[in-house]
Amino acid sequence: MAEYKIIDGKATSIAIKKEIAEEVERIVAAGGKRPHLAAVLVGHDGGSETYVKNKVIACEQCGFVSSLIRYEENVTEEELLACVNRLNSDENIDGFIVQLPLPKHIDEQKIIMAIDYRKDVDGFHPINVGRMSIGLPCFVSATPLGILTLLRHYNIETSGKKCVVLGRSNIVGKPMAQLMMQKQYGDCTVTVCHSHSQNLKEECKQADIIIAAIGRPHFVTADMVKPGAVIVDVGTTRVPDSSKKSGFKLTGDVDFENVAPLASYITPVPGGVGPMTICSLMKNTLSAGKKEFYK
Ligand code: GUN
Repeated sequence: MAEYKIIDGKATSIAIKKEIAEEVERIVAAGGKRPHLAAVLVGHDGGSETYVKNKVIACEQCGFVSSLIRYEENVTEEELLACVNRLNSDENIDGFIVQLPLPKHIDEQKIIMAIDYRKDVDGFHPINVGRMSIGLPCFVSATPLGILTLLRHYNIETSGKKCVVLGRSNIVGKPMAQLMMQKQYGDCTVTVCHSHSQNLKEECKQADIIIAAIGRPHFVTADMVKPGAVIVDVGTTRVPDSSKKSGFKLTGDVDFENVAPLASYITPVPGGVGPMTICSLMKNTLSAGKKEFYK
């Protein structure tokens, strides 16, 4: 039996949320304000409903105030922009998110651009993306930040290693690759592979660290993994499963059963990266409350 270690995102996130809650109580005891996160949810997509519900629960666990603003699927772009503007100028709100994806008739980028970057706790605004890419203080996208926190929490050496990032989304792949490359974060040699990459398997096979964010269940198979590699699975595809009460099973991008015995460390799905993403949003909201990056 190989001796791989499970990276427990759930336990790590619980420990970090406890630290955040303790800091909030110190702030409040000293006469400060509880951080306030607002979430805007459009429509009734099952995944988005679950994510936003979990974000609201995490706010309670951290001692934050939260507000949920809901719109039906047929909300207009103008109405949504007006909501963003209200949240931008509401002094009670420290940070807010607009849950993605948005309905097709709304220009997602236009909404993101309208968010005041000082309240953009998702780190999606081009000012935050740009500052992140040149190593300036800013809100960093929650999933990449959660993965960095996990690697650090488990004392996994990244400096000088070869890291392959699978996927090039604005939310995960691109910022993850940037951060893994930067000296003060991953300090790795980074390769980004995507759906049109040639030699993807060979690239993976050489990697010390694989971060899979491609959205295809069980895409990373044992023949793509070097013995001793660190495997981070960002996938959360809902695959139908009649044995589950919900009717689906959250499935990662990694064929866990066959890959785990080869790995030194591996994140499970669920219970790996997912809980850390929400935890990072809480960290960003605390930073917003403290005006840590922007006055
Ligand atoms: N949809 C999937 N992930 C995210 C996220 O981190 N933030 C927002 N706002 N929407 C998402």
